[in-house]
Amino acid sequence: MKYDLDRVIDRDGTGSAKWDNYMGGRHSGPTTSINADLNDDGSIPMWVADMDFQVPKPVVDALAERVQHGIFGYTMATDGYYQSVINWFGRRHNWEISKDWISTAPGIVPAVHFAVRTYCRPGDKVLIQKPVYYPFFRSITNGGCEIVSSPLIDNDGHYEMDFDDLEVRAADPKVKLAILCSPHNPVGRVWTRDELQRYGEICTRHGVLVVADEIHCDLMMPGNEFEPYGLLHEDLVKNSIICTAPSKTFNLAGMHLSNMVIPDKDLHKAYDAYMAQIGVAGGLNPLATTAVEAAYNGGEEWLAQVLNYIAGNHQHLKTFMANNIPRIKVYDLEGTYLNWMDFNDLGLDRKALEDLTQLKAKVLFDEGYIFGDEGIGFERINLACPRPILDAALQRLKKSIEG
Ligand SMILES: Cc1ncc(COP(=O)(O)O)c(C=O)c1O
Repeated sequence: MKYDLDRVIDRDGTGSAKWDNYMGGRHSGPTTSINADLNDDGSIPMWVADMDFQVPKPVVDALAERVQHGIFGYTMATDGYYQSVINWFGRRHNWEISKDWISTAPGIVPAVHFAVRTYCRPGDKVLIQKPVYYPFFRSITNGGCEIVSSPLIDNDGHYEMDFDDLEVRAADPKVKLAILCSPHNPVGRVWTRDELQRYGEICTRHGVLVVADEIHCDLMMPGNEFEPYGLLHEDLVKNSIICTAPSKTFNLAGMHLSNMVIPDKDLHKAYDAYMAQIGVAGGLNPLATTAVEAAYNGGEEWLAQVLNYIAGNHQHLKTFMANNIPRIKVYDLEGTYLNWMDFNDLGLDRKALEDLTQLKAKVLFDEGYIFGDEGIGFERINLACPRPILDAALQRLKKSIEG
């Protein structure tokens, strides 16, 4: 079936974090979001990573049927659920997952918190690569650990890992764990097999456990192919915890259900023991399991259209900026629907840039500095929206810079 992705859907009154929460208090501007008709002067939310598209029809249908059943007691993952996950990764990524490697989690952010607490002790250090998805920071510090960053190198618009620096930092005996963001949010890189292999070899050689956050793995832009960490050399895979989720792929973030893939038995046992200790093991939301199974089994046609649409939005953004505000540089997008943009040429400090986007243009991006100081002067835009929303945001930005 053909999905109408241009359609702007009113999310008002649904408790949407993106449309009703105004950036969790970071937003200093007007406290209303624009209406779905895009006519009033509320703010346009282009920040948190969910989509303004309806989910695949098979998901809506499966949920409707499940709701009709009318009983929502304590729920476990069924064989059908596991099989849908296994089939998806086998079919889409050529990665054969064994059922007994999988543990569920109420989201990747909680799962990363659990991993830090399971595999590190207070005082240990955890390696990340800034600019990077900022909730990693708290998962480390809340676990009493210290953040160590090996910053990515911006090689003329193409971010790369600094392997010499990684080698030095991973060699610190206090570094026990590394969080890999693959594909990388916010810089939009899809790491190559060679980059992942080098990263994994460095970590494994120094006894640093890799937590690979692959939440964006299905969101590939044309010409790019995702390389699962689970397809690297067996020794590297044994030294890893791989976080997968349908939440970004199928716009199911509010369902809070993701799958941790842990091939090593001892590491897996330790993870499950921690989950049991804090009372999170086992019980799942019946609507979430229904939605995830339906999405993995029947969401492919929808995903193809959505990816194509997002690639079109990226191209639209690039062309618009080049023609209208060439001082704003739009980075290439290999994967994810989150596009990194450099505003430094405008010559504004942090506060002035925020005032320009949030107060004057009334467009809510995620400010680059929240991903680390390397992101100062950058903004991250969410492209998973109908084009009329993107257009309205770009027109506002143009006007506010010209005016
Ligand atoms: C890299 C990355 N990890 C995790 C998450 C959120 O995961 P969850 O909603 O499953 O906690 C996001 C959301 O944007 C993300 O970009």
